[in-house]
Amino acid sequence: MNPQTATHGSYWLETAPPGVPAPPLSGDLTVDVAVIGGGIAGLSTAWELARQGREVAVLEAGRVAAGVTGHTTAKLTALHTLVYDHLRRTRGPEGASLYARSQMEAIRHASGIVDELGIDCEWEETAALTYAEDPQHVGELRAEAEAAREAGLPAEFVTGTDLPFAVAGAVRVSGQAQFHPRKYLLALTDDLRRRGGTVYEGTRVVRLTEGEPCILRTDTGVSVRAGEVVIATHYPVFDRALLFTRLSPRRELVVAATIDEDRAPRDMYITQEQNTRSVRSAPYRDGKRLLIVTGEHFTPGTADVEERFTRLTAWADDRFTGLTFTHRWATQDNDSTDSVPLVGPLHHRSRHTYVATGFGGWGMSGGIMAGRLLSDQINGLPSPWSGLYDPRRLTPVVRAGASFLKHQAQVARHFVGDRLPAVTAPAPDDIPRGHGAVVRVGGRQYAIHRDESGSLHAVSARCTHLGCIVAFNDAEQAWECPCHGSRFAPDGQILQGPAVRPLEKRDIPE
Ligand code: FES
Repeated sequence: MNPQTATHGSYWLETAPPGVPAPPLSGDLTVDVAVIGGGIAGLSTAWELARQGREVAVLEAGRVAAGVTGHTTAKLTALHTLVYDHLRRTRGPEGASLYARSQMEAIRHASGIVDELGIDCEWEETAALTYAEDPQHVGELRAEAEAAREAGLPAEFVTGTDLPFAVAGAVRVSGQAQFHPRKYLLALTDDLRRRGGTVYEGTRVVRLTEGEPCILRTDTGVSVRAGEVVIATHYPVFDRALLFTRLSPRRELVVAATIDEDRAPRDMYITQEQNTRSVRSAPYRDGKRLLIVTGEHFTPGTADVEERFTRLTAWADDRFTGLTFTHRWATQDNDSTDSVPLVGPLHHRSRHTYVATGFGGWGMSGGIMAGRLLSDQINGLPSPWSGLYDPRRLTPVVRAGASFLKHQAQVARHFVGDRLPAVTAPAPDDIPRGHGAVVRVGGRQYAIHRDESGSLHAVSARCTHLGCIVAFNDAEQAWECPCHGSRFAPDGQILQGPAVRPLEKRDIPE
């Protein structure tokens, strides 16, 4: 199969059992804890709480473990590219150590759950490496190895790897893991139900009123009364704390190909070079493993995605040779200002609302860590790392990375620029089949898509989150918002928040 004909969709979604379907919530409900979002952070939190005897409901707008969690590369590691050298400078040695301990504890905890529940999720213990091919980066890698070791990880600087090409150097941390995320989470969901928890799919929460109890309302008008509410929707759908000023969305592409077992790397890799390349392999069949390569990140709505898929595929084929591409998909991450996730009380006056977000591409260990941390906080138990991850922390500009500041400047430009007349805009007749464009007519901006049969479909181009103008991603057939990463189908239906309302339908302008 060549890269163009590879299945457009996540390997994890295709190869997990269908799972027990969960009906949408159809009547009012009262629970101890409502968890909004059924990805790894939400399901882990719900499972921990159900195990502690809490009455929990998970409210998922789509299907559980099928959003960002179903599109990850599924590495469980505490080595997050080059985070430790950054942390020891910005949060001190104690902050770096807490980060390492919390992430390692999450990996060990997940391993214990796999054993306890007997989950068949292709769990493999392996090492994680951050590498560079350019000798100029060796100094950074040596500093990271030293910082990670100081933080308590079994880290070392190495020059040998099981990649089929030479590297100038790498940080290697042993005792990490990789798995099949959807198989793991469907088993966790089954166990959650056995413990009395409930799961509702196709249930979009559109309003939160904080109080005692908190009241949630769904898009079908159903209410949920909950003593505690956890917002685990990746980018938070409710944001009284204005967390959107401290998060930037990043879309990333994934290609998968079969490779002979004896040529497949067994360790997990990442490099910041070439706009990021991440590599791992997974069990497959017929003497093969599945090579999974991720990279080519971009702000949603701002790139020629097909061109980037081509680049990523060419890189994989060049470095590993003789691959047969089977799948391609994309995922989306949220980077926080200071590279530390935001997990804990939603805002300064929160008493019963919590959030988990900003995992920056490391949502597997981060989501499991969040489940432990939030369940402790809801139960009034202390946690050594609650301060580190507290969303209410101050984040001085000096802790913000350059890419984060660049994104915030771009958002500011969108807020202003999207309200000004476009300099050039195509006419609807100019839009080819399978493409979309924003067209301005009479002071209104229309997002117009021409489907493969040639028919035009129009929706408002103004994102329903905070009003930026969407752009079309041809490769994934989706409208994307560059400000905070909301995504919509060509007909305006929500694919991904923080938006909770679809793009409004419009007539095709004359
Ligand atoms: Fe915030 Fe679109 S996602 S304005």
